[in-house]
Amino acid sequence: MPIPTIHVGCTHFAHGRLQAQVNSHGLEPVACVDINLEAARDGVSSINGAPEGLTERIYTTITEAKAKHDAQACLIYASTTVHAKLIVESLNLGMHTLCVKPIATTQAEFHDIIQAHKANPGLMLVQGQNKRWNPAAAKMREWLREAGGIGEMLAGECRFWIRQNLYTGPDSRQPDAYVDGLFFHAGCSHQLDQLVAAKGLPKYVTAHVHNRRDPELGQIEAWGTAGGNALMEYANGAPFSYAGTRAGHAGPFGWSGSWSFHGEDGDLRRDGGHLQLFQLGKNVEDLTLQDLHAGLIEDDRLQFDAFAQGIANGTDRDWIQDTTLGTWILMEACNESARTHERVDVEVFAKKMLAK
Ligand SMILES: NC(=O)c1ccc[n+]([C@@H]2O[C@H](COP(=O)([O-])OP(=O)(O)OC[C@H]3O[C@@H](n4cnc5c(N)ncnc54)[C@H](O)[C@@H]3O)[C@@H](O)[C@H]2O)c1
Repeated sequence: MPIPTIHVGCTHFAHGRLQAQVNSHGLEPVACVDINLEAARDGVSSINGAPEGLTERIYTTITEAKAKHDAQACLIYASTTVHAKLIVESLNLGMHTLCVKPIATTQAEFHDIIQAHKANPGLMLVQGQNKRWNPAAAKMREWLREAGGIGEMLAGECRFWIRQNLYTGPDSRQPDAYVDGLFFHAGCSHQLDQLVAAKGLPKYVTAHVHNRRDPELGQIEAWGTAGGNALMEYANGAPFSYAGTRAGHAGPFGWSGSWSFHGEDGDLRRDGGHLQLFQLGKNVEDLTLQDLHAGLIEDDRLQFDAFAQGIANGTDRDWIQDTTLGTWILMEACNESARTHERVDVEVFAKKMLAK
């Protein structure tokens, strides 16, 4: 039996996520929520295979939807600036909750979410990170974590390089253009979530943001929206370096970036969907796998089915929850380091972020 869910957000990017949920095996939307009812009805009516009558079950608040329908989970794809308040509402209504990154834009918002989760410890809470689920990302994780791959990680790097226009008009609703610190939380998190998923959190991070200003790309005056560099240090001493921009002049690798890792047993190289494993002087595997699907609908379908399995039988529940919340913490540690010009002790910072 699929898990009955409430889907929040029915237009734009959120609309494709409703399609992904309908395509999933483990979740079934029983109601939708959107503050713009008219646009939401148009959105829901154009979903392929939507449950019958779903257009008649759209509400303006999660509380109203939950009062009328017996949902067990809630997927939140509304605008970034309302995420934290909607997550708190959903958890306090007793629903397992997945909200697209970034779940919070400030440490105070993250604190409110953690308090609501501590009050409801049996509920699964996930920061949606769709780019770790495709076959290319899964193979990189396998080579980083499992026998037959690179073995103990000695060092690594990731380069991310795209040209993303955040300017969507004079009434732009794209918060990435005007909310401070959203490069790490909304650009970099797509790559480094894959590092956290495979290797957990580093012990330390030192980071800087780029000073790019380009009105044509919506890179105007907010701090930390264009790009950033970070040097992470893992507990075994392995350094990992990151350089990324979404305000570049081209995009040679796409959102998944270009990676290399050196390990005790092998070296790994990845550019988007192209992966190579080298051992003892030989290229032992050379694979081209599915990276991101167009529209990211299949990526999110995979993520939603993993969320459903986590709720239904506990499969990978702690890993999905802890590593996706860990990604938020690491991205905020990057912002903290860039603001203070200090190296941040990520373990200490994580304890502070997760404290009562
Ligand atoms: N993971 C990814 O690959 C990826 C890609 C694009 C966007 N996103 C994120 O997905 C989210 C949604 O993006 P979007 O472009 O659809 O945003 P959007 O601003 O168009 O919002 C989506 C819908 O949410 C509704 N909404 C706004 N506030 C609401 C509230 N308080 N309650 C209920 N509904 C509300 C809007 O009316 C709209 O229909 C954003 O946080 C964005 O950053 C993620």
